[in-house]
Amino acid sequence: MKKRTVKIGIFGGYRGSSYYKNLMANNGEIVAVCDKNEKYAQKAKDMLGGDVAVYTDFDHFIEHEGLEAILLSNYFHEHAPYAIRALERGIHVLSECTSNGTMAEGVALVRAAEKSKAIYMLAENYPYMLFNQEMRRVFEGGTLGKLIFAEGEYNHPISPSDDLDYYISLCPSSTHWRYALPRSYYITHSLAPLKYITGATPKRVTAFAAMDPVPEEKDRLQRGVPERAAIVLTQNDDGSVFRVTGCAAFGHHENSYRICCKKGQMENLRDHSGNVLLSYNTWDAPEGCEKPKLYHPELADKDKELIGKAGHGGGDFFVAREFLDCIREGRRPAFDVYFATNMASVAILSHRSLLEGGKPYDIPDFRKEEDRLLYENDTLSPFYGSDGSLQSISPSVIPDYHTLTEEGRARYDALVKKYEEEKAGAAK
Ligand SMILES: NC(=O)c1ccc[n+]([C@@H]2O[C@H](COP(=O)([O-])OP(=O)(O)OC[C@H]3O[C@@H](n4cnc5c(N)ncnc54)[C@H](O)[C@@H]3O)[C@@H](O)[C@H]2O)c1
Repeated sequence: MKKRTVKIGIFGGYRGSSYYKNLMANNGEIVAVCDKNEKYAQKAKDMLGGDVAVYTDFDHFIEHEGLEAILLSNYFHEHAPYAIRALERGIHVLSECTSNGTMAEGVALVRAAEKSKAIYMLAENYPYMLFNQEMRRVFEGGTLGKLIFAEGEYNHPISPSDDLDYYISLCPSSTHWRYALPRSYYITHSLAPLKYITGATPKRVTAFAAMDPVPEEKDRLQRGVPERAAIVLTQNDDGSVFRVTGCAAFGHHENSYRICCKKGQMENLRDHSGNVLLSYNTWDAPEGCEKPKLYHPELADKDKELIGKAGHGGGDFFVAREFLDCIREGRRPAFDVYFATNMASVAILSHRSLLEGGKPYDIPDFRKEEDRLLYENDTLSPFYGSDGSLQSISPSVIPDYHTLTEEGRARYDALVKKYEEEKAGAAK
């Protein structure tokens, strides 16, 4: 039977455009796209046809007639206020990571989601990568026994000399969120798979910075903090410990996960093969599993072909399908507002821990009013806001690092401008 169509709008047309096909393949009808940058409005028309409504501001977009759901793919640290406005109108929300940029926003978001009849889901795609789904399947089977320790790495080094257009498109100015993203903030790709596989929830956090300050080069584009990674440890509700990285830049580009349990362990290989390695202690191994098993998990799914074509190892397809199915079935998604804000709290509080030399922080449980009261006015942020608001906490343990000074930021903006002008000149 054909699934009911859900009318959906996209807020933020850069990342948002990579969801068009996946939403439409799951009977989502994209009726409106909003981006203040007209380039992405045009791109939406090109990709979706002339019937799609395009807006440049949220106020008009959210009033689009018949809108049932929105995907928030605007700036990383500005999702919560728009999510709240949609939830207040009964519009379902699929939000890119992260759910909230400040602790106070996390509290407000949970309160809004609880009041709303609409569904809130975090668009976290990495847990759906095939090797992570396989680890979840095996863990839930019980043969590995109790979880003791797990690690998650999202390792994304990037070089400005590699592809300057790409580098600038990711971070067009020194006030953009990517310019000085604190290493622990983009934590969902390393943490969400571990939470999804094991069901454990972080309760306390501590973090250290792995440093690599580089010399200032005045004629070269330089951005980023001097930390290469935040090494984050979480103590979890089941007594286990996670070690996660946030968005790291060490070694080579990869994302990897390992779960270590009482009877054995499982991990995906760091060679981009998608293979997993499952091994047990000989005395605990189920029959036939005494030797380590290296294999490529098979996908048994009716949408196998579409999943194979989707971004992020098929993860984007699963996110779109799950969100739209939850709306149609009135079902709460696994990546609900509590799952999402727990991760945002780990991201935010591990940054504070890192700034304070590893001081532990308790992770609040936003199901509890007493925990909400602790953070409802905590608006500290390491980001510039689109409303002109300034940073209120340093993004780095070296606050006067050369990329973070006014001079360093002005130089970045001037070099971007020069590059864009030269490119425009060459195109004439
Ligand atoms: N899950 C993933 O694998 C994945 C991959 C890439 C990006 N993302 C997420 O997607 C989000 C967007 O990232 P991005 O890479 O597209 O870069 P980006 O943050 O630069 O793009 C945001 C877009 O939203 C638009 N926008 C922002 N505020 C607006 C406003 N008030 N009104 C109208 N338009 C507005 C901007 O013009 C821009 O085109 C981020 O949260 C990022 O973390 C997730």
